[in-house]
Amino acid sequence: MSVDEVLRPAEAYDLSAPFYDAWSWQAFWREHEFPLVRAEIEAFENGSMDLIDLGCGTGHYLGLLAPSFSRSVGVDISDGMLSVARLAHPSVEFVRADIEDLPFGDNSFDVALSCRAMTHLADPGKVLSEIARTMRSKGIAIVTNIDHGPKFGNTRLPTAGEATVFATTFKHAPDDLARIARACGLERTGCRYITMYGEPVTYWDEDIVGSVAVFRKS
Ligand SMILES: C[S@@+](CC[C@H](N)C(=O)[O-])C[C@H]1O[C@@H](n2cnc3c(N)ncnc32)[C@H](O)[C@@H]1O
Repeated sequence: MSVDEVLRPAEAYDLSAPFYDAWSWQAFWREHEFPLVRAEIEAFENGSMDLIDLGCGTGHYLGLLAPSFSRSVGVDISDGMLSVARLAHPSVEFVRADIEDLPFGDNSFDVALSCRAMTHLADPGKVLSEIARTMRSKGIAIVTNIDHGPKFGNTRLPTAGEATVFATTFKHAPDDLARIARACGLERTGCRYITMYGEPVTYWDEDIVGSVAVFRKS
């Protein structure tokens, strides 16, 4: 596999799935992004709740969060990622689907999570409107993204040996996502940024590598 090959996300993540969890960037996000995600959910906790993770990958976040929810569902387009997820988290429900066209009815979930998946979508309006449609009134969506600035190009993913592949990636500025989300009925209530040193900040900094935004359905 050539290191220069750019593949559609489903193909790239199928190839990367057995190697994804051991990738150094996963350790970074799990150490620095997940605590911010969990804190937002804990601040929201609202009795019995149903959770959906859009672009759940190997299901690591869902495995940690599922004990706090009545129902936990992971959706991903990559069969390879879902195979790893199902083996690691047998009690979680995993569904293969495109997050731009969710196979769930209106008002099905209280909390929607989407971690670094929107970056693979050319038009984030489709998934944001699906989040708004499937979310119950007053529910929250926590959406994380890699930074849209020039330091990142197409997402590089590990595969067998030293080889890597790239997954098609689009740049979405956090404020653009907030504007698109508002048009879908989701109001951004907060946004924090993670620097390459792992610190959460609320202002722009050249060292920022990702963002964690929270949206609420009215
Ligand atoms: C960067 S990975 C993040 C995985 C997981 N959220 C995590 O935090 O490790 C992006 C995931 O989004 C999935 N994905 C990309 N485009 C998708 C789409 N249109 N529908 C469903 N899943 C998609 C990929 O297959 C991949 O598993």
